[in-house]
Amino acid sequence: MRKPLMAGNWKMNKTVAEAVSIVKALKSSIADVKDVDVLICPTFMALYAVNSEVKGSNINIGAQNLFWESKGAFTGEISPAMVKDAGCSYVLIGHSERRQYFGETNETVNKKIKAALAAELIPVVCVGETLKEREDNVTFKVIEKQINEGLVGLRAEQAGIVVIAYEPVWAIGTGKTATPDQAQEVHAFARKAYGKMYGDASQKVRILYGGSVNPANVSELMKQSDIDGGLVGGASLDAESFTKLVKYSK
Ligand code: PGA
Repeated sequence: MRKPLMAGNWKMNKTVAEAVSIVKALKSSIADVKDVDVLICPTFMALYAVNSEVKGSNINIGAQNLFWESKGAFTGEISPAMVKDAGCSYVLIGHSERRQYFGETNETVNKKIKAALAAELIPVVCVGETLKEREDNVTFKVIEKQINEGLVGLRAEQAGIVVIAYEPVWAIGTGKTATPDQAQEVHAFARKAYGKMYGDASQKVRILYGGSVNPANVSELMKQSDIDGGLVGGASLDAESFTKLVKYSK
């Protein structure tokens, strides 16, 4: 059985004080949750402060990005060891906003995944098609390429640790969610594609759905057999709504 993972991607939101305040609220509102792994990804700036706050709780923290080199003349970048040192156990890699605005490709995503794993961070690797790609009926092709190229070359023991997030670009921040059937179809396809590369590890890998997940649609999405959690932007920015997501009714 795959343990569900509910992840909040705060993107470029919240000052340190705001981040600490929401985490304080979450700590008590979800303290009793044991059957779902909880992950918050604040900005780099807030990681240390949030980490001090979540120590000893059931909240894990992750970064939203990293660079693959370990140190040196890379102005503005953050190394995997630095992310780990800040208390992270996870890191988001290849979010569509990074692919779209910051030039990330399947190749750079692959380098980042390997660097994250080497630093004992769990990569949450984002894949997803644009609206045009869906309309052109190339969704499966796009997902397969992102998986084949982005996740190539992992060692057997690493292959089962990775988390994949399917986030249709047209559903991110738009209020348009993929229907549970649409999402399930792609999740099953992604698991199969991953299975062709890594066999049984594909049964262990958690595949999260992302794109306008909210307290009203989370339960239907989570009922799908290949949906193992959510990667949530907007609805994770508020303690009350993120609590509802973590405590979705089963
Ligand atoms: P959203 O963002 O929940 O605001 O659509 C999801 C994401 O980009 O991870």
